[in-house]
Amino acid sequence: MKLILTIALVLGFSSNVMAKGDAKKGKAKAMMCASCHGAKGISSAPMWPNLAGQKAAYLVKQMKDFKSGKRKDASMAGMVAGLTQADMENIAAYYASLK
Ligand code: HEC
Repeated sequence: MKLILTIALVLGFSSNVMAKGDAKKGKAKAMMCASCHGAKGISSAPMWPNLAGQKAAYLVKQMKDFKSGKRKDASMAGMVAGLTQADMENIAAYYASLK
């Protein structure tokens, strides 16, 4: 019983760590997003949504949807085409950490 509990805790912990993006790495990647979404995730024009403070899970989902074509936007499709799952999680962690 004790052993099962320990395994569950360890698994739960490591999957938590894996699911959480690295905001530092995300910040570097997000440089290329700044021209539209702003240097701190607050965009300079109404046509571009703010990303600062948005929930990380939501941001990852939107990026994946742009990549898969489920959500269509010509400028965003090109932006996310080269991003990996880890890139998206890192970028999402970065924007989620901003106010
Ligand atoms: C050329 C301008 C441009 C660049 C550069 C750009 N985006 Fe966007 N982004 C947009 C536009 C326009 C939308 C709104 C699309 C729509 O109306 O569906 C958007 C929407 C989004 C959304 C959805 C926001 C929401 O509230 O639903 C996310 C997430 C996002 N962008 C992330 C990024 C990331 C990450 C990068 C950098 C890798 C990036 N964008 C670079 C123009 C840009």
